[in-house]
Amino acid sequence: MNEIYIGILGLGTVGSGVVQILTSNAEDITNRTNSHIHVKKVLVRNLQTPRSVSGDFTLTDQPDDILQDPDIDIIIEVMGGIEPARTYILEALRHGKNVVTANKDLLALHGHELLDAAKAAGKDLYFEASVAGGIPIIAALKQSLAANKISTVIGIINGTTNYILTAMTEQGRNYEEVLKEAQSLGYAEADPTSDVEGLDAARKLAILSSIAFNSRVTINDVYVDGISRITAEDIAYAKELDSCIKLLAIAKHQDDGLEIRVHPAILPKSHPLASVSGVFNAVYIVGDAVGETMFFGRGAGSLPTGSAVVSDIMQVVRNMETQSTSAINCTCYYDLPLKKSDD
Ligand code: NDP
Ligand code: HSE
Repeated sequence: MNEIYIGILGLGTVGSGVVQILTSNAEDITNRTNSHIHVKKVLVRNLQTPRSVSGDFTLTDQPDDILQDPDIDIIIEVMGGIEPARTYILEALRHGKNVVTANKDLLALHGHELLDAAKAAGKDLYFEASVAGGIPIIAALKQSLAANKISTVIGIINGTTNYILTAMTEQGRNYEEVLKEAQSLGYAEADPTSDVEGLDAARKLAILSSIAFNSRVTINDVYVDGISRITAEDIAYAKELDSCIKLLAIAKHQDDGLEIRVHPAILPKSHPLASVSGVFNAVYIVGDAVGETMFFGRGAGSLPTGSAVVSDIMQVVRNMETQSTSAINCTCYYDLPLKKSDD
């Protein structure tokens, strides 16, 4: 039996879910990885804040306590933001640690730099939780659909905005009130502007597009429009057309390049994505061999996101045992031309 030590950067919504799952499912996790996984240290900003989870770990506000701890094999970055998260991940890789992150903001801007650094260090960088919470969409694109040329990815990949649009449509509720509810449920980003203005979905779409089309797409390549200007009248108008409004993330590989955009769209109720309600996400993918496929699940929240993070940790542990690194680290990206959206 292997003894694996991990350090977690952040103990908020996602970090707490990770600790909870590692504790409550410890026996199965041990059996499936042939390893005891111990949370050794957890980094937080404020040591005085009361925590919803506890365990046999040390809380610290000093990143080097974790990044330079020679016993720690895997760093879990669930603190969010660009800096200092980027520096901590690069430092962790330099110190020979594998990394698991849920940080789509960082990946959508610096993902390629981080993947290059992981490759140079011969270490893993896994990020399943960065897109669509608990849905295993990154693994599906990297592995199960890898035989395909992907032509289309269309997703509802922001739980907060889908939660808001669903409540406005089905219960006639007010935008601000539902946004506050989504924040209190831990769905929204620290700054919910990212959610409602479509940036969070655009970041996730940049990550999905990079993998689906084996290209280097960043947030700067995505056309973005959010839901903050959607009114009760817009919702009523869509209903009259037997339709609903959804924030769609759309990426298409066409003969003349990639088209990548996020914006609200009126969807007929008969469309498969129209029935995706509340915090649920869904991703519809078309591949040349597989045809149409669709993935569905909870796109945000402590345990669904923790599920993706812990599954990544388990894969890293299995890789450590077999001395292999993730397929994504070996990917050679090429640059596809980007089409400008008309609007
Ligand atoms: P929270 O704001 O709930 O938690 C962030 C944690 O990180 C807190 O414990 C905070 O410490 C700590 N932290 C933040 N900055 C620092 C810093 N500079 N130094 C030390 N500790 C720091 O965030 P979430 O858990 O919601 O999100 C974490 C990551 O996961 C983000 O990248 C987010 O985008 C991503 N994500 C979130 C999902 C969700 O449903 N919430 C779903 C998918 C991805 P303290 O508690 O002391 O303030
Ligand atoms: N704020 C994000 C959302 C969290 O609402 O989808 C999950 O990435």
